[in-house]
Amino acid sequence: MRRAVIYFNLLFLRGFFYATKREGECQLNLKGRHLIQPMDFSIDEMEELFSEAQRIIANPQAYGDVCKGKLLATLFYEPSTRTRLSFEAAMLRLGGQVIGFSDTSSSSASKGESLADTIRMISCYAHIAVMRHTKEGSALVAAENSDIPVINAGDGGHHHPTQTLTDLLTIKLEKGDFKNITVGLCGDLKFGRTVHSLVSALNRYHNARFIMISPKELRIPEYLRQRLKKSGTSVQETTDLNQALPELDVLYMTRVQRERFFNEEDYIRLKDSYILNASKLKAAKSDLMILHPLPRINEIAADVDDDPRAFYFKQAKNGMYVRMALLMALLGVEV
Ligand code: CP
Repeated sequence: MRRAVIYFNLLFLRGFFYATKREGECQLNLKGRHLIQPMDFSIDEMEELFSEAQRIIANPQAYGDVCKGKLLATLFYEPSTRTRLSFEAAMLRLGGQVIGFSDTSSSSASKGESLADTIRMISCYAHIAVMRHTKEGSALVAAENSDIPVINAGDGGHHHPTQTLTDLLTIKLEKGDFKNITVGLCGDLKFGRTVHSLVSALNRYHNARFIMISPKELRIPEYLRQRLKKSGTSVQETTDLNQALPELDVLYMTRVQRERFFNEEDYIRLKDSYILNASKLKAAKSDLMILHPLPRINEIAADVDDDPRAFYFKQAKNGMYVRMALLMALLGVEV
């Protein structure tokens, strides 16, 4: 009897410990998982990441050494400012360290080393890797040959899942959730990997409606159109930004992806298809959110930057916080 009482007391204490721990601490353990495309995480797992990111924003000092002793490898075969530096800042702010390269020419890929061999080596040096590559599917190849978690920081014109985490966190912080929103995606919807990832992720939420605004040559890929159709999502395709603007809760502007074009003539013809400016915005809702993964070229005029509806710089900052939460989750570390 006495042993049973002690046992139940221990159970009670353990329950109390976990209940206490639940308040404000990381509950999400994605240890050892890869992030190749946004559907790799369930909606609940995404929500946990956003909650952790919000806790980091509220109290960044509490996270200063949670990744002490951990090493992030940044493997960038394609240029980047935000993604690479926000990942590096994220790891350094968590107390970890960073190694890596920022272009192919400074890695042994320039001598002909395969991606599979490179990631095998990196697995010996680091605890986690983030990789951007020119080729679609490269992140999956890396993950299949890796002993450590691999995060896709963009594979060609395919996916960019951590940009989606950034985009969704920014919408959530402003709108509360993703239900019943009309999202306009404007620009290069064919090659824009951030668009493919964001649409795939938002399509899982209740009643999201999309208005795809692009030149005919840069419409969303057929596989994505079919996926949306199959799930019964409302999708409208148009070439007219001005007409779509008054209906939108979120406007996701994108640049025309010069690096994915086969010829320069087509790029020059299409590059300035859409230029959002203060004058055009008069027709938009007062609580519209203007997002852009950046870099921008001409598609958002500078006179939009001071508009309270412009969220693209806040969006880039949020990227660092959600990447901190992601690194912690994949490494299985807690506060
Ligand atoms: N949004 C984004 O991927 O930016 P970078 O190309 O600068 O990383």
